[in-house]
Amino acid sequence: MEIIETIGLTKEFRDFWGRVKARALDNLNLKVNRGEIFGLLGPNGSGKTTTIKLLLGLLFPTAGKIKVLGKSPRHVENKKYIGFLPEETYLYPYQTAEEALLFYGRLFGLKHTICKKRVQDLLEMVGLTKAQKRPLKEYSKGMARRIGIAQALINDPDLIFLDEPTTGLDPIGTKEIKDLILHLKNCGKTIVLCSHLLADVEDICDRIAIVYGGKIRCEGTVAGLLTAPQRTQIVVDNLSDATIQEITQWLQSRQIPASIEKPRERLETYFLRVIQEARLQDTPTSGAEAGKIVADFFKQPNLGSLSEPSNPVLQELLEQKLTHPSPEPIAQPLPTTTNTVLQQLVQPAIEKASIPESSTSIANPSQENIQQEVLNELLAKGKGKK
Ligand SMILES: Nc1ncnc2c1ncn2[C@@H]1O[C@H](COP(=O)(O)OP(=O)(O)OP(=O)(O)O)[C@@H](O)[C@H]1O
Ligand SMILES: [Mg+2]
Repeated sequence: MEIIETIGLTKEFRDFWGRVKARALDNLNLKVNRGEIFGLLGPNGSGKTTTIKLLLGLLFPTAGKIKVLGKSPRHVENKKYIGFLPEETYLYPYQTAEEALLFYGRLFGLKHTICKKRVQDLLEMVGLTKAQKRPLKEYSKGMARRIGIAQALINDPDLIFLDEPTTGLDPIGTKEIKDLILHLKNCGKTIVLCSHLLADVEDICDRIAIVYGGKIRCEGTVAGLLTAPQRTQIVVDNLSDATIQEITQWLQSRQIPASIEKPRERLETYFLRVIQEARLQDTPTSGAEAGKIVADFFKQPNLGSLSEPSNPVLQELLEQKLTHPSPEPIAQPLPTTTNTVLQQLVQPAIEKASIPESSTSIANPSQENIQQEVLNELLAKGKGKK
């Protein structure tokens, strides 16, 4: 069930004389489903922020239709279900973090006691409890970004737009925001995010669209777009040099192209471990601290609050969609021993497989059969050794 839909959305910016300065969006057809994390990607100036502004009703489209939560984006009722983190954080520099969040809470008409509690929860969540009495003009770029994120969540929105949420954040902040976004999704919320940090997008998004020149170039699930079904990866723990040699010779004897490498840890994981150690040693810092991962006031979206049709057939379809099992994985899961051996063997190939067309080495079905043979033989050997 779409929570956002645009049909033929076009936006032109014109000068005083009505001449077109920029065609930011060109016949954009976009659908975002309820409860998903949707990533809008594209190079600078491709129209991502313009799309978000149109979806929020901050800009008028030149042509096309937009529905957000089943209504026009300018529908006032919608606003209380929507959260927005703008590309640039616009905050009053002389307000403290606490004052700024209380101010935004009051704009949404939150009761003072609820608002105060939420503000403290959010400050703790973004790791700024200790810095909350300092004026925002003193904040570092990443600290200001964290406050922007807290501001976007003060009304416990069902639909959240995040324009470059992790820009300026350190890797810990980035990880916390990614965890937070995943948590919000688990609460049933829908998140639309723009980011140039492709690794982060890959980690958390369910579906993405890549925009260029205001048009969608490709769209789909991250797994669907990036998985190379014709390649296989094998990861093995503690394989001796002799065994590696043996496997390499065996593969060569059957003319199976493969490369064997030691897998590397992700820099993000390594960095987080180093900082975690520093924190365990109580090393002082005047910057942001570890955030409590999630404030506990987030609720499940109130389906009734959104303008889904109260049609029982549609409701049934929606429920079916929510409970529909995910499609069968392309490769059946292998027994653990098999899995580890296979991953180390073919991992480098998978790493190169971001361009599926380049997957020449093990692309045809006969080679898949050969791989199965290799696997069987390796397993038989393993059993024999025991
Ligand atoms: N207010 C405006 N007046 C004139 N042109 C504009 C305006 N806002 C955006 N544009 C133009 O629209 C196009 C798309 O801009 P947009 O800000 O949507 O890009 P973006 O994909 O968000 O880029 P970035 O990755 O740099 O944030 C650009 O050519 C930009 O110059
Ligand atoms: Mg932008």
